[in-house]
Amino acid sequence: MASTRQERLTRFDDGQARIVPSLLNCDFGILAAEIDDAKRCGADVIHWDVMDGVFVPNFSYGPVLIDSLRPQSDMIFDVHLMVQDPLRYLDNYLEAGADLITVHTEVLDDPRETLRAIRKRGARAGLALNPPTPIEKILPWLDELDHVLVMSVMPGFGGQKFDSSVLSKVRSISNLRNDIWVEIDGGINKSTVEVASEAGVRLFVVGSAFYNADNRAEAFGDLSRLMQRGRSNRG
Ligand code: DX5
Ligand code: ZN
Repeated sequence: MASTRQERLTRFDDGQARIVPSLLNCDFGILAAEIDDAKRCGADVIHWDVMDGVFVPNFSYGPVLIDSLRPQSDMIFDVHLMVQDPLRYLDNYLEAGADLITVHTEVLDDPRETLRAIRKRGARAGLALNPPTPIEKILPWLDELDHVLVMSVMPGFGGQKFDSSVLSKVRSISNLRNDIWVEIDGGINKSTVEVASEAGVRLFVVGSAFYNADNRAEAFGDLSRLMQRGRSNRG
């Protein structure tokens, strides 16, 4: 099962849009099995929502947890750092086996050092924007970025309602540069995935609509089909 970051990211570079299950709503008592279940349903990227209780009013995973799951899965680990001081913990998450790391614009006036530190270790670097944060916050850093994560809920909890006002931001970012991928996070389900795909999203984080589904394989399949339909509607 042991895989290298380079092997995992080579797979990731096939250019395919993806449904990315988020573990926040899984059963943590059987975490390894829940990660495997996402793979069984067709996912090859899994989203980790790291929360420090300061930037968001909730706590979640430390690097030790991710590190202990790394040898058990060859999935691409997408680590979303909802923390006040990402630079302080960056090395720990890279060491733990993160492949994509996203930090928030709201906590970094100048994210250059952080983004460069991520790329230097061969991982992919992203900036996240909360719903009220304007696109201008990412514009000076486009050369330092692999992806932009557009939050479609205020971060902190799964199961919130999709904020469709962020779709214009998605459209603008996806038209900026083809090599910078747009990821969306929050409230993605069968009613919202297609419209997000039409707007240009290529990575769709799905928490409750995957892990709380009665039939996860079916939910994953439906979400994938609607995502593809949205992409073909783009023309
Ligand atoms: C929200 C997290 C999300 C969360 C999404 O703070 O960043 O990744 O897991 O959950 P749903 O899909 O239920 O909105
Ligand atoms: Zn997230």
